Amino acid sequence: MEKEIRALKQALAKANRVAALTGAGISAESGLPTFRGADGLWRNHDVMQLATPEAFSMDPKLVWEFYNWRRNLISGLTFNPGHKALVDLEAGIDHFTLITQNVDGLHLKAGSKNLLEIHGNLWKVKCTKCQTVTVDMSSDMGPLPKCKECGGLLRPQVVWFGESLDYGLLNRAVEAARACQLMLVIGTSAVVQPAASLAFEAKAAGAVVAEINLEKTPNSGIMDFVLLGKSGDILPKLLEHRP
Ligand code: OAD
Repeated sequence: MEKEIRALKQALAKANRVAALTGAGISAESGLPTFRGADGLWRNHDVMQLATPEAFSMDPKLVWEFYNWRRNLISGLTFNPGHKALVDLEAGIDHFTLITQNVDGLHLKAGSKNLLEIHGNLWKVKCTKCQTVTVDMSSDMGPLPKCKECGGLLRPQVVWFGESLDYGLLNRAVEAARACQLMLVIGTSAVVQPAASLAFEAKAAGAVVAEINLEKTPNSGIMDFVLLGKSGDILPKLLEHRP
């Protein structure tokens, strides 16, 4: 592992276009359960069944209860050394793009700048009637929050299963993947598309690709580096003694 970290550090030192793709694993050390881990249940509901437009139209109160629970949980959490290492990495690289599937806002809280939140952000809400998007940092939005403009029902501004990603954001993510010399793929099970395919875009365009995860994933086979362990341990090591 130490040898691999050294080799990846060397590759990073040569790259001035770097992209990173993160998933729920990077926030696990902040205390946030991942989606597909053993803790991916909320009151015995599979969270992936709640994060759907169907669940919201059937039982908006239940879905809001889940998101209020997440808001409350996340408002008490902070970024961890993994998030911080990506901020430090960005500061030392000419062109750095951070693409995240996380909606928790912890990358922003840590200070990442060129950030693409391709699955949205939990702290934003959108009116289902007039489509107005607003930021609301309340840790509890109440059972059925309403739009201040038109009274319509609000929903979390996150991409649910079966919904399309924002085209502009996805386009920028694909461009960053194709343009980078090195991509770090951190804490994602690599099963949700199109995010999982970004590593293939990078690899196909000639980039070095490196995965940091507790375990191997369906993407491990294309990786130049697979570093198994906690992102909060490994990412800071990649930055040690970096000028
Ligand atoms: P998953 O829960 O599917 O995967 C989390 C990954 O993080 C797993 O591969 C774990 O092995 C790894 N992991 C856990 N702790 C880690 C740590 N400390 N350090 C490094 N790796 C760790 O989460 P995602 O891949 O993010 O979508 O899931 C993708 C999308 O599916 C999410 O954005 C969400 C979900 O449904 C939407 O909400 C649209």
